[in-house]
Amino acid sequence: MTSSALQFEALEFASVVPDVRLDIYRGEEWITSFANDVHRGLLADPPMLPPKYFYDARGSELFDAICELPEYYPTRTEEAILAAHGAEIVNAAAARSLVELGSGSSLKTEHLLRPLILDNELEDSLYVPIDFSESAVREAAVRLIGEYPGLRVHGVIGDFEKHLGGLPPAEARLIAFLGGTIGNFAPDEMHFFLRRLALLAEPDDSLLIGIDLVKDTEELESAYNDSAGVTAAFNKNVLASINSNLAGDFDLDAWEHVAFFDRENSWIEMRLRSSIDQIVRISAIDTVVSFAAGDEIRTEISRKFTREAFTAALESSGLELSGWFTDENERFALALADSQLASGR
Ligand code: AVJ
Repeated sequence: MTSSALQFEALEFASVVPDVRLDIYRGEEWITSFANDVHRGLLADPPMLPPKYFYDARGSELFDAICELPEYYPTRTEEAILAAHGAEIVNAAAARSLVELGSGSSLKTEHLLRPLILDNELEDSLYVPIDFSESAVREAAVRLIGEYPGLRVHGVIGDFEKHLGGLPPAEARLIAFLGGTIGNFAPDEMHFFLRRLALLAEPDDSLLIGIDLVKDTEELESAYNDSAGVTAAFNKNVLASINSNLAGDFDLDAWEHVAFFDRENSWIEMRLRSSIDQIVRISAIDTVVSFAAGDEIRTEISRKFTREAFTAALESSGLELSGWFTDENERFALALADSQLASGR
C-alpha cells in the first residue's frame, strides 16, 4: 500500500472493550504533513506555523492547564452554557446521536450526552468522538460507556480536517465542534470547512458550534497572556515539538511569547518573537532559517465573533442559525445550525 493510500484507509482495531470501536487514521504519515507544513510555514513571509501542532502530549497537558487558568474564561463559560442549556439544545436538535470534532477528554460533552441518553430514554445510542489523541479518545470511551448503559462509542483517531469522510452514519446526529476551535481557521478556511459540514450533513443532523465573542481588549488579551506563563509555555511548545519530531535545534529561551487582540480582524494573534539574531536548523527537512532579533512567527489566530458576523458566515456556507445559547455576560456562545445543503439519504 502506498503511503497516500494509507491516509484514507483506517486501521480498524477490534477493541477488548465491547461497545467501543476505534478507527485509527493517524498513522506515520502525520509526520510528513508536519514536515511539509513546517517547511512551507517557516519559509513563508511572514513565517507561520499551524496551531494544530500545539497538541502533542506535552501541549495537550499545557492546554488542559490553560483551561483551568483564572484568566482563561472560554472553557468554564462554555461548560456553564452547556450545563444550563444542554437538554434544551439536544431537544431543539431532536438529536439521537452525538459526533464531536476535536473531542479531547470529552468532559464538557457529558452535558449533551446525559440529556441525549437519559431524557430520551435511549436504549441504544452512539457517540463519535474524533481527535488526534488516541489516548484521550480511548480513556473517554471507557469512562463514558461505564456511565451510560446502552451507549456505543465509535472513535475516530485523526485530523477532523482530513478524516471527516470516515464518520460513521448515525440517526439524527448532533455534530458538535466545541471550545471555540473554529476560531483557529482564517475566514476562507472557515468558509470551506463549514461548507463541507453543510454538505456532509443529512437532513436530520444539526451542528453545534462553540464560538468566543468579541469583548473588551483587556479581558481578551489577559486570557492569552496569563500571569502564570502557561500560555507562553504552550506557544513555545510547538518549537519543542519541531525539535523532537523533525530534528530541529530551536533554543526555546531565545523566543518570547506575544499575544494581542487585532480588533480590525477581530482575532487574537499569537506569535513567537526572536529575542536575538539566530540561525535555526531543522535537519529532517533540510531547512536552515535565519531570524533577526524581533522577527516573529505567527503561531495562532483565535477569532472572536459577534452574533451577526457568525450568522452571516454560517449563511454564506449553506447553514442556517436555529439556536443561540450564551452566558449572562455574553462572553461565549453556542450556535445551533441546520444545513440547507443536506444531502438526504
Ligand atoms: C483551543 C483554539 C479554542 O483559541 O482560545 C488557548 C487555543 N491558544 N490559549 C483558543 C488557545 C492559547 C484555544 N482554542
